[in-house]
Amino acid sequence: MSNTNSQHARPKSRLLITRRVFPAVIEALADHFEIEHNEADEPWGPEAMRQRVASIDALYTVATDRIDASVIQAAPHLKMIATGSVGYNHIDLAACRQRGIPVSHTPDVLTEATADMAWALLMATARRVTESERWLRDGSWQGWAWDQFLGADLHGANLGIVGMGRIGAAIARRAQGFSMRVFYHNRSESPQAKGLGASLMSLNDLLAASDHVVLVLPYSQATHHVIGAEQIRQMKPTATLINIARGGIVDDQALAAALQERRIAAAGLDVFEGEPQVHPDLLACNNIVLTPHIGSATLSSRLGMAMLAARNLLAWRSGSPLLTPVPGL
Ligand code: DGY
Repeated sequence: MSNTNSQHARPKSRLLITRRVFPAVIEALADHFEIEHNEADEPWGPEAMRQRVASIDALYTVATDRIDASVIQAAPHLKMIATGSVGYNHIDLAACRQRGIPVSHTPDVLTEATADMAWALLMATARRVTESERWLRDGSWQGWAWDQFLGADLHGANLGIVGMGRIGAAIARRAQGFSMRVFYHNRSESPQAKGLGASLMSLNDLLAASDHVVLVLPYSQATHHVIGAEQIRQMKPTATLINIARGGIVDDQALAAALQERRIAAAGLDVFEGEPQVHPDLLACNNIVLTPHIGSATLSSRLGMAMLAARNLLAWRSGSPLLTPVPGL
């Protein structure tokens, strides 16, 4: 017996999900999309990515995929990209604009978790948590000493935040509990920062005045190596540097040299140039805390990101405005 509804049902859109995702995402999308899902979760190289996108209508991607012009070109039917990340520097927006492909991202849902992670790294770095733990585990601890693993104070110190968006403001809010003076550098004055008592500064002034510098700015050609040897030279020799933004914002090689020569006290990095590779000179430093791009990695935050990407795809499919479009597209 024929079913009139299914006869007239709109064909599903073909969707590629590039990495293994929560089952709730598949459940939310399955009625509307014919899904190819990379359940094996082996990241695809450029050629495999180009092959996979050949017949898709929509793409569900993540920050570690590279969706460059060659991938867009290899996807002649592609009409929508949802990235499960707040950052979108991995997508060639100019190529999307040219083809009229909308792109959504996932702001807000990861703000608090990422600000918590900035603080986790900051505290671990300033108080030498992982360095002293390694020393303890390798059996070096023979007893307490006055000068063992002296770190830097956080309470009452000067915190410099480079990039005062949502996450920067959430980091600044936490700094109030530590009675810190907060400086920030941003393209424009932030109304949120004003309410938090944070002062806008030039990058050089911020670097010179801060005891701890946290980088939270988006990556672009303009922010490539915004922190290099020259900028590190402006910092206090007792300062710490935290990068939870993107690899490439810091010149990792220059940072490793500065750490080895103790030109700054320590660094905490969650993101790296060319990750998952980590510069061997960084790995050789003791005065560094390294984490594998886990800034947003709490269950509620990652699920929030994954579901927001799915809801953007459903909005596109139903012809509604995207919930969280990438600005300017
Ligand atoms: C983002 O959302 O941009 C993060 O880097 C991915 O975890």
